[in-house]
Amino acid sequence: PPAGPSVYGIPLKYLSLVTLAVQNSALTLIMHYSRVSTPPSRAYSPATAVLMNEILKGSISLLIAFWRIDAPSTDRQAFGVVGRVKKLAGDVFSPDCWKLSIPAILYVIQNNLQFVAVSNLQAATFQVSYQMKILTTAGFSVLLLRKKLTSLQWCALLFLAIGVAVVQIQAGAVRVVEDGVPLEDTHTMNALKGFMAVATACLTSGLAGVYFEMVLKNSQTDLWVRNVQLSLFSLLPALTPVFYLYASDPQEGWVSTLFRNFGAWAWATVSVQVFGGLLTALVIKYSDNILKGFATSLSIVISFLASVALFDFQITFTFITGSLIVVCATWLYNHQPKRTEPITWVFGWA
Ligand code: C5P
Repeated sequence: PPAGPSVYGIPLKYLSLVTLAVQNSALTLIMHYSRVSTPPSRAYSPATAVLMNEILKGSISLLIAFWRIDAPSTDRQAFGVVGRVKKLAGDVFSPDCWKLSIPAILYVIQNNLQFVAVSNLQAATFQVSYQMKILTTAGFSVLLLRKKLTSLQWCALLFLAIGVAVVQIQAGAVRVVEDGVPLEDTHTMNALKGFMAVATACLTSGLAGVYFEMVLKNSQTDLWVRNVQLSLFSLLPALTPVFYLYASDPQEGWVSTLFRNFGAWAWATVSVQVFGGLLTALVIKYSDNILKGFATSLSIVISFLASVALFDFQITFTFITGSLIVVCATWLYNHQPKRTEPITWVFGWA
């Protein structure tokens, strides 16, 4: 029988895996397009996008948390809206809520760095490099969760690092030139800057993911309450660059400074990011960070094919070689040697 909850007979575990893979690719492509398709003078502010992401994600989580509150069995009738609000406030501002401040700060840094990386690397190159998350996640799982890795998994991690390094070889500086846009106002990509950003984002991703998993699985607190706490602690670090942005041009009003050039593609990026954040939380709760790594490796293939079709991405021998090494390494890392059990055939004969 299929393990865990399912939707229309499909195990939630696999459904979330595939959805996360598609979301990851969509986010990379939409974010990349939203950044490189406009000249720097018409670019939107990533700081505003990160702030909007946290506000929207926090609000959705708050609504779900409110809806899920259980009435105390003693006074089911008397448990009205005020009672629910009080209970939820008590849950959100619990004595251990400070624990979420650590992943909150790390995720805000990571979400800002993602914009830097995706603006300076080709979408497919970014997607492959972002696989180093598996390496950092494994490292922090060993350190913080005392997880044991098999020698095969260590081997896979080594291959992963090699694969990413190979992909980097072909990532030179690329200049995106649009018709009719003056050259000094075109988006220029800096591969080194992009790579530094992606490497740091992988570090924060690994630490934040493992820390979140540790907090979530070591207590009874509802996932959605944890998400609200995460978003609340994210507000301060997310607001800091926004203040800086406003201070740099105080003549204009708050709203027009923050939402300057914030068009449809910027909102599309934020929406896909919000969806991804909620999905990531579900994946961490119902499986773990390793399954998450597997999902993102599927995204390499999707982003790669889409990049070729949409952005005239140049397929090189080194890119293919590096990507293949990364995909094989991810598969190897997740490969559980099967125990030899008698096979029960579909029709019931053993
Ligand atoms: O790349 P990675 O899987 O580490 O990305 C996690 C993303 O999911 C981040 O953008 C983070 O803000 C978001 N997240 C979230 N809520 C959680 C866990 C992660 O919004 N509980």
